Amino acid sequence: MLKDSLTRLKTNGDVPRHIAVIMDGNGRWAQSRQLPRMLGHHQGMRAVREAVEGCIDAGVQVLTLFAFSEENWARPADEVSSLMNFLDEYISRETAKLRRNGIKTRVLGDRSRFDSRTLTAIERVERETQEGTRLQLGLCISYSGRQELTRAARLIAEEVEAGAMDPDDISEQSVAELLYTAPWPDPDLLICTSGEQRISNFLLWQLAYTELYVTSVLWPDFARGELFDAILDYQARERRFGQVGS
Ligand code: IPE
Ligand code: IPE
Ligand code: MG
Repeated sequence: MLKDSLTRLKTNGDVPRHIAVIMDGNGRWAQSRQLPRMLGHHQGMRAVREAVEGCIDAGVQVLTLFAFSEENWARPADEVSSLMNFLDEYISRETAKLRRNGIKTRVLGDRSRFDSRTLTAIERVERETQEGTRLQLGLCISYSGRQELTRAARLIAEEVEAGAMDPDDISEQSVAELLYTAPWPDPDLLICTSGEQRISNFLLWQLAYTELYVTSVLWPDFARGELFDAILDYQARERRFGQVGS
């Protein structure tokens, strides 16, 4: 069954080069089982493995996962610290495997709020996987789209102020080059889990022409099969980018 959809998606049309995912529903997954929310986050790490391996199977080149938003810092302190612990745990458990499997991993977001332990873990996974060429994995942590764009505006202003850039030379490309996602292409497909039909401040610039796929599956239940279904659905779309259809 899984193999069937994999064979089908390889012959069906273009596989998205870049897939982005809003990994939502961990809390509801736990609550529906009368379990603490933390266990939902823990189970969510298994789903990350599924998504990463599924992208490699399908031949996707870039996978960007929304793991923790800037707004999520305002959650109760014990939830935030558990999430940071899971992140450290994920990195220390997976770094060797990511490296072995050719998965170049980068953390996208505002690093100023991480404690030194998390920062060290992030720098380590980035350093040790930097030669990977099979899949580019972006983990958005302490990330918000508005903050990313505000940062780009500030960097441009600094260049202008320093006389290194003329305001007339500011282009869409020069903005895109200052986003955390540079030099990746924009996502072709965004998967929203847990049935939420909103962007939640994710990749606001990059999603301009991305195809959206909403599934009611809660993130901890997400597996390769859901990923393949999303890709098959994507392959039936007609992307027009504002032009007239074929
Ligand atoms: C997504 O799951 C993970 C993070 C936002 C960190 P949630 O924790 O938002 O789960 P729900 O939305 O409450 O079910
Ligand atoms: C979006 O989920 C952020 C992540 C998945 C990391 P949230 O649960 O924080 O978003 P809202 O509040 O439902 O929009
Ligand atoms: Mg949520």
